[in-house]
Amino acid sequence: MTIENSNEILRKILAAMERIPPQVYAPGDDTFLMVDAIATLSVEGKSVLDLGTGSGILGLYCALRWAHVTAADLDELAIRHTADAARFLGVELKLIVSDLFSNIPAQFDLVLFNPPYLPSEGTHDATVDGGFGGRDLIIRFLEELPDHLRKGGTALLLLSSLNSPDTLRKSYSNFEFSTITKRAMFFEELQVLRLRLRNDLSI
Ligand SMILES: C[S@@+](CC[C@H](N)C(=O)[O-])C[C@H]1O[C@@H](n2cnc3c(N)ncnc32)[C@H](O)[C@@H]1O
Repeated sequence: MTIENSNEILRKILAAMERIPPQVYAPGDDTFLMVDAIATLSVEGKSVLDLGTGSGILGLYCALRWAHVTAADLDELAIRHTADAARFLGVELKLIVSDLFSNIPAQFDLVLFNPPYLPSEGTHDATVDGGFGGRDLIIRFLEELPDHLRKGGTALLLLSSLNSPDTLRKSYSNFEFSTITKRAMFFEELQVLRLRLRNDLSI
């Protein structure tokens, strides 16, 4: 898809969510890096799970590109906000309150996760606090992901240099990881990784 089309879709979504409740994660640099990565994939007709949907932006972006989207978050308010934005945009999403995959038995062609990844400093803000090394939720995600990918499925995961990405890649050698896009920020480097199960690579 062209950058112009992608930007047009984003403009529509951002216009639909003028008032994001303060406790729901508002789109940031990490979010837009995820959008850049999704823009490289063909999602039309695919089943997509947007895990930790926050404002709903990534799921809505895929839905406006004709994907069948399920969006989930631990925070009920994020789900309600996403429902309102979807109604405003005239798209349908399946919305689920869930602690990671716990209420999501299904499998998907594409799973998106922009996790809370900041190393815990006792703030306990669930939108950004990723526990020890910022990796607690990422590790749970990597453990549970294989059960939720369809054959040949893919995941996009955002990581920060604060999360020791090389160690994570080595620990989860059941996945093939490739970096789709990255950006140097003030105190960290963000990257979006594409994950595929090695068992599937012959497909
Ligand atoms: C960094 S924000 C990303 C929000 C949005 N996807 C984006 O890219 O802008 C992380 C999101 O994960 C959600 N979250 C935190 N812990 C979670 C958990 N255990 N299960 C599901 N979602 C969780 C937060 O509520 C928050 O909306």
